[in-house]
Amino acid sequence: MKVYITTPIYYINAEPHIGHAYTTIAADTLARFYRMAGYDVFFLTGTDEHGQKIYDAAKKQNVSIKDFVDRNTETYRKLWNMLHISYTRFIRTTELEHEETVRNIFTKLLQKGDLYKDDYTGYYCIPCESYAIPEDENNPLCPDCKRPMNKISEPSYFFRISKYTKQLEKYIEENNFVKPDFRKNEVLNFIRSGLHDVSITRKNVEWGISAPVSENYTIYVWFDALINYLSGIGYLHNENLFSKFWPPDVQFIGKDIIRFHHIIWPCLLFALDLPLPKTIFAHGWWTSGKDKISKSKGNTISPEKIIDEYGLDALRYFLLREVPFGLDGEYSEDIFKKRYNSDLANDLGNLVNRTLNLVETKMSGIIGNIPANMEIIKITGEVFEKYQAKMQKIAFSEALEEIWRYISFLNRFLDEKAPWREGCSNVEEILNNTIYGIRSAIIMLTPFIPDASIRIWQMLGLEETPESNGFKLLNQKIPEGIKTNKREIIFPRKK
Ligand code: MSP
Repeated sequence: MKVYITTPIYYINAEPHIGHAYTTIAADTLARFYRMAGYDVFFLTGTDEHGQKIYDAAKKQNVSIKDFVDRNTETYRKLWNMLHISYTRFIRTTELEHEETVRNIFTKLLQKGDLYKDDYTGYYCIPCESYAIPEDENNPLCPDCKRPMNKISEPSYFFRISKYTKQLEKYIEENNFVKPDFRKNEVLNFIRSGLHDVSITRKNVEWGISAPVSENYTIYVWFDALINYLSGIGYLHNENLFSKFWPPDVQFIGKDIIRFHHIIWPCLLFALDLPLPKTIFAHGWWTSGKDKISKSKGNTISPEKIIDEYGLDALRYFLLREVPFGLDGEYSEDIFKKRYNSDLANDLGNLVNRTLNLVETKMSGIIGNIPANMEIIKITGEVFEKYQAKMQKIAFSEALEEIWRYISFLNRFLDEKAPWREGCSNVEEILNNTIYGIRSAIIMLTPFIPDASIRIWQMLGLEETPESNGFKLLNQKIPEGIKTNKREIIFPRKK
C-alpha cells in the first residue's frame, strides 16, 4: 500500500507566509495520516527557482542569482522544519537531476512531434509567470493578478496540448482527478471552450534550464516546475522508486494554479504515456481584509510570529479546522484566538488536565488497571470510522469536527459521572474510561498536531509515541499499572 503526496514547489523570491504553510501543512497531515494507517508514503515538496521573477528579485537585492536561490530555499526548509513537516524529499529545480529530467522530457516530446516551432506574440505576466490575454489591450493588466503585463514577440517551441483535449475531458469526467467537486465543471468548461497550445520556451530569459536544441532558448518556468513531480521521485535515475510510487495519489495546490495542474500537467503526462494523478485538490485562499494574502498586497502573516505566540500545533490546527478545505478563509488574530481558546485551551486542554489531575489525586497517578468498557470502545470505533472516511475524502475540518464531538462527549461523560463527588464508588472505572478516550482522541489528532500529541502522550505515561503503532493501537487496551507523568498546560489560555 503506497501513497504519493505532493505540494506545489514554492517560488523563492519572497519569504513564506501562512498561505504557503497552509498547503504544506495539509499535505503533511495527510502524509502522517496514511503513515499511521500503515501505508508507505512518499511526500514531496520543494522550491521553484527559475524564471524572470526570481532573476529580477536577485538583481534587485544586488546578489548573485546562485547565492540568492541558495539562501532563500533555506528559508523554506527552515520553516518546514519548524512546522515539523515530515517530507520525504525536498526538491530544488536547480538540482542537476531535475535539470536533466526536464531536458530529457523536452527531447522526448520533440521526437514524438508534440513540440513544434512557431512565433509567439502576446502578453506575459511576470508575477504569475504566465501567458495571458488582457481584457483591454490599451491597458494590459493580468486577468489573474491585475498587474501590468509585458508584450512579447519571439520565436518559441509550443507544446501541442490541443491534441489531448478529448482525452483530458474524458479523464476528468470519469475520475476524481479534479477536487473539490465544485471545481470540476469549471475545469471542464475551460477545456470545452478549446485548448490552445502553450509556448514552453523563452528566448530572452536567461535564468532557466537551457533547452536541448541548437538555438539559445531556456525552458518556460512552468514546464520546468511541473516536471518536479517526476524528477523528485526518480523518473530518470531511480526506476524502482518511480515504479513503486507513480502515479501521485494526492497533489495539493492552491486554486490560483488550477489551469497549470488540471490542464497542462495531465497533457504532459498523456504525451509521456504515463498514468495520471488520482486527485489534484485545489484549496482556497487565506485572505486578510478580504484580499488574498500575498507579498504583493503587503498583507502577509508570518507563520513564525504565530508559532512564537501560540505554538506550532495551534497554527497547524487552526488552518485545517477553521475553514472547510477547498473554500477561502479570512485570517485575523481575533478569529485565531477565539478558535484556540475554545477548542484547544478549553475543550481538549481542560479534558486532559482535569482527568490527569483526578488520576493523580484519586488513583496515585496509576492508569490501565481497569480496561475500558464495551460502550466506550464501541463509540470510539464509530468515531474512528467517520474520521477515517473524512480523511480519505480530504475533508480536514470535518475530520476534526468528528474528533471534537468525541472530546465533548468525553467532557460530558466526566461531568455526568462526576468521579470527584463524595462516596463515588467507581472512580477508577470512570477515569480509566476517560483516559482510554483521551488516548484515542490523541491518536486521531496526531496527524494534525504531532507535537502536542507526543507531549500529552508522555504525560499519560504511555510507551513510544502515538505514531509508532499507528491506528492499530486504537483497538488495544492500555497496559496495566502505567504511571502518569507530571502535568503541564499544553495550550495555555490567551487573553
Ligand atoms: N511555483 C509555483 C508552483 C509550481 S508547482 C509545479 C507557485 N508558487 S507560489 O509560491 O506562488 O505559490 C504556491 C502555492 O502557495 C499556491 O498554489 C498555494 O497553494 C499557496 N498559497 C500562496 N498564497 C496563498 C494564500 N493566500 N492562501 C492559500 N494558499 C496560498 O505558484
